[in-house]
Amino acid sequence: MKRIAILTSGGDAPGMNAAVRAATRAAIAQGWEIHGVRNGYSGLIADNMAPLLARDVGGIIHRGGTFLGSARCPEFRESSVRALALRNLALRGIEALVVIGGNGSQTASHWLCKDGFRVVGVASTIDNDMYGTDVTIGVDTAVNITLEAIDRLRTTGSSHQRAFLVETMGRDCGYIALMAGIAGGAEVIAIPEYDVEPQMVAERLRAAYQRGKTHAVVVVAEGSKHDARSMMRHFEENRDTIGFELRATTLGHVVRGGAPTATDRVLATRLGAAAVEKLAAGESGILVGMVGRDIVTTPLEEVAGRTKPIDMALLDLARVLAQ
Ligand code: F6P
Repeated sequence: MKRIAILTSGGDAPGMNAAVRAATRAAIAQGWEIHGVRNGYSGLIADNMAPLLARDVGGIIHRGGTFLGSARCPEFRESSVRALALRNLALRGIEALVVIGGNGSQTASHWLCKDGFRVVGVASTIDNDMYGTDVTIGVDTAVNITLEAIDRLRTTGSSHQRAFLVETMGRDCGYIALMAGIAGGAEVIAIPEYDVEPQMVAERLRAAYQRGKTHAVVVVAEGSKHDARSMMRHFEENRDTIGFELRATTLGHVVRGGAPTATDRVLATRLGAAAVEKLAAGESGILVGMVGRDIVTTPLEEVAGRTKPIDMALLDLARVLAQ
């Protein structure tokens, strides 16, 4: 192989830059040329790409986001649109593509493979809901940002005998909320995988107050049956009986921003380099992920349209520990 391309797609994730850096330098070490595609699949369609040299990816390992830019590109579903992208790749003599992204992005990778192009996917999303990997690039940072918010809210909450509802990201997956909730000692964790009614939250808060707690934290995952705002609306009626004063904080995109943790930088570096190694070994049509301490590959056709369930036993554990 002589020339490959790389893109970052979907919601950005802290660590994407480290993955691009690793893949670029690994490709150069193979003696290949690598093109960086701007703004995900949109850049493939618009032929917006340029060669990357080792120095172009210098000074980015510590930076959040993605210097290549990212985008959601629903039009890539259309085979006529993919044909444009494939034409642009062919005109540049590009023989394979590395796609750094989450579920939607790797489903698109699978379509390109079915169209006959060589693609290796790299597991990257803060949601950590991808089949074929224990962890995804960005999730460690997202959990730690959520945890820092919980810790900060705890200190002010304890000064004022308040209960805080903290809403974090995750789309339809409660992983970030569950992990940050456990690490932050949350009194209640509400996730999309398990319905939690506001009445039940109110009861748990009331019980915590009566047990003498000075403050409480409820972590609510995006996608839960009731989001933080709708829970607060329910609480309006029986605010006085709960004991704690109530406040809600929605973290939103803060969860996805900022510098990647060391864990995410190392994961991204290993996965980015591994994607190139797999291409060099003649493999494609796969997702590169991490299971246990090992880099593993999973066929993209198994990954596409599938998600990974969370460990519900951890939710039970969190409940026991909240006493
Ligand atoms: O998939 C990552 C993610 O941050 C989800 O947690 C969230 O639901 C979604 O992206 C938000 O997407 P956007 O940035 O396009 O609003």
